[in-house]
Amino acid sequence: MIEIENLYKSFNGNDVLKGLSLKVKEGETTAVIGRSGCGKSVLLKHIIGLLRPDKGDVWVDGQNVKKLKRNELYKLRLKMGVVFQSSALLDSLSVGENVALGLTENIRISRARVREIVLEKLSLVELEGVEHKRISELSGGMKKRVAVARALAVNPSYILYDEPTTALDPITARTINELMLSLKKKIRITGIVVTHDMESAFYVADRIAMLHDGKIIFDGTPMEVQTTSDPIVQRFVKGGGKY
Ligand SMILES: Nc1ncnc2c1ncn2[C@@H]1O[C@H](COP(=O)(O)OP(=O)(O)OP(=O)(O)O)[C@@H](O)[C@H]1O
Ligand SMILES: [Mg+2]
Repeated sequence: MIEIENLYKSFNGNDVLKGLSLKVKEGETTAVIGRSGCGKSVLLKHIIGLLRPDKGDVWVDGQNVKKLKRNELYKLRLKMGVVFQSSALLDSLSVGENVALGLTENIRISRARVREIVLEKLSLVELEGVEHKRISELSGGMKKRVAVARALAVNPSYILYDEPTTALDPITARTINELMLSLKKKIRITGIVVTHDMESAFYVADRIAMLHDGKIIFDGTPMEVQTTSDPIVQRFVKGGGKY
């Protein structure tokens, strides 16, 4: 389980997180929604230990992320696949090499086994026969799938998606939503989707939490989000993720 307790983070006087608390239950997909710039990516970076809280704690499977030593943090990161907002793929490498990155960096395994895992994960994201292609040859939707395959390469317990659909056209976005949902069902992975795309949140999430003014101001099922009387949540949802 991932539990975030009373998290505070400022950057040079810019108070971004101001006492954020959130629980992510195992097997569920939690969407964190909120307007652009509200601190969603900053939150994700605290979960994976890329940023250190000014105050508060992030617990992953009972471990306090900020207290971990470097090698313990590496081990913890193997439990968490991250699909970055920009996909963060290396253009100079092939699709297969990109998917293998997390494997060859962190674990000692044979080349044959790496290839096996790469093909398995590419098949899981419904991308077959592309392992030799260059990243520059791919469409935006395909790149997103490669980023997901790379996140899955180490068999993580958690997958964290940062705005997985926002740079995509509506039809491609829908196929990525379908992929996220199918992964939850097929491999029972626990997910966090950070997004300002309400359609995506409703499609994939078991729970939706809204980040506003540095805090989670609402946390409920998609049904509860649609029926809440909270004016800030209502305005965000009705605007499809815009104010
Ligand atoms: N490393 C950093 N140094 C200074 N300020 C930062 C840093 N990272 C984030 N910020 C600031 O924190 C705030 C939140 O940024 P963040 O990237 O988390 O927003 P977001 O909710 O992910 O937005 P978007 O939906 O556009 O991706 C912004 O004001 C940003 O400028
Ligand atoms: Mg962001």
